[in-house]
Amino acid sequence: MRRIALLGATGSIGASALDVIARHPDRYVVDALSAHAQVDALIALCVRFRPRRAVIAEPARYAALRDGLAAAGLPTEAMAGPESLVEIAAAAENDTVIAAIVGAAGVASTLAAARAGKRLLLANKESVVLAGERLMAELRASGAHLVPIDSEHNAIFQCLPADGSRAGIRRIVLTASGGPFRGWDRERLTEVTPEQACAHPNWSMGRKISVDSATLMNKGLEVIEAHHLFELPAERIEVVVHPQSSIHSLVDYVDGSMLAQLGQPDMRTTLAVGLAWPERIEAGVAPLDLVALGRLDFQAPDTAAFPCLRLAYAALQAGGSLPAVLNAANEIAVSAFLQRRLAFLGIPALIEDTMDRLHALPGDTLEARLAADAEARNVASERLARGAVS
Ligand SMILES: NC(=O)c1ccc[n+]([C@@H]2O[C@H](COP(=O)([O-])OP(=O)(O)OC[C@H]3O[C@@H](n4cnc5c(N)ncnc54)[C@H](OP(=O)(O)O)[C@@H]3O)[C@@H](O)[C@H]2O)c1
Repeated sequence: MRRIALLGATGSIGASALDVIARHPDRYVVDALSAHAQVDALIALCVRFRPRRAVIAEPARYAALRDGLAAAGLPTEAMAGPESLVEIAAAAENDTVIAAIVGAAGVASTLAAARAGKRLLLANKESVVLAGERLMAELRASGAHLVPIDSEHNAIFQCLPADGSRAGIRRIVLTASGGPFRGWDRERLTEVTPEQACAHPNWSMGRKISVDSATLMNKGLEVIEAHHLFELPAERIEVVVHPQSSIHSLVDYVDGSMLAQLGQPDMRTTLAVGLAWPERIEAGVAPLDLVALGRLDFQAPDTAAFPCLRLAYAALQAGGSLPAVLNAANEIAVSAFLQRRLAFLGIPALIEDTMDRLHALPGDTLEARLAADAEARNVASERLARGAVS
């Protein structure tokens, strides 16, 4: 029986994970659940899954969680604050951690799970962008087993040699749906709204990653994530737009073979792989109907209309703290866009502006990365407030 801590239980990945877990009560038990501020949603999940502990990251919501759990007659222990996320990620009572918090807020708990040697189902890509070197070092030191929960990296994971060797790999190819604005030019992109940006054609996801998909920053973050997880340089990580989202990514070998993983655009497949690997379990996902699908299309990404992908490659190539700066500026920009304080094309503009200002931050440690993250948030927020980028 695997005992699971699910961080980010009230989100889109959290829901998919719990759907798969609920199909296999003989294999999985939920030890801990967390949310940021949605107390009622967290309590409802506790009623259903009866975890030992529940964490609300926002400390001001602690009393509401404690009282709600008591009113529901649950023995679940209420906890609060970011330090409690770290505590449940590292707790001896679970062996598997699903890291599904959105944004850099997930970095400390992700690292704690890696340090504690858990099976780590990693959806929180921002923590890899921010602290990839440290994460990989922690995994090596503890022997923790990471399974990527990004459909692209999960596809690569499935297509790589089982012995972990990287011999014979020419490059990896990450597929991108192109998002809701695929084929649009910059002029058309000036007026887009948060509602349009969040209406992804193929995937149902949280709002932040939906905007990232629309700007192609999601693919940029994934390139940096792939660099760390698969230890490949930027030149050997390619992006191709594939509107059907049926091929989730590919590995190109030197003998001319290309291995691809195909499936429905449904994260339950990815989560089932992570939960059961190397076994295969039912995920509630229908098989692809290849005849109905009919065709698979591919295009080069348009980095003139969608500069975020270019900015992410530039950050990866420059190295140092620049990926952390890119990620932090993106989080500020996306949040401002969702609040209608920044135009869609202002997202890449604000990120580039912040990167230009902070490209030479010193230091290679986790502390330096976290300092760069904080500095980038300050700079981007201040530029936004002054109307320097709109
Ligand atoms: N959705 C997908 O299909 C998908 C695919 C691949 C990768 N990912 C990655 O998976 C992660 C989660 O994405 P999502 O789409 O599931 O996001 P989401 O629907 O917005 O859910 C985010 C979860 O994180 C919690 N959270 C938000 N801010 C937090 C904070 N400051 N501290 C602690 N918890 C916090 C939220 O709690 P509340 O509900 O209380 O706000 C919620 O449980 C992201 O890194 C994303 O890039 C997602």
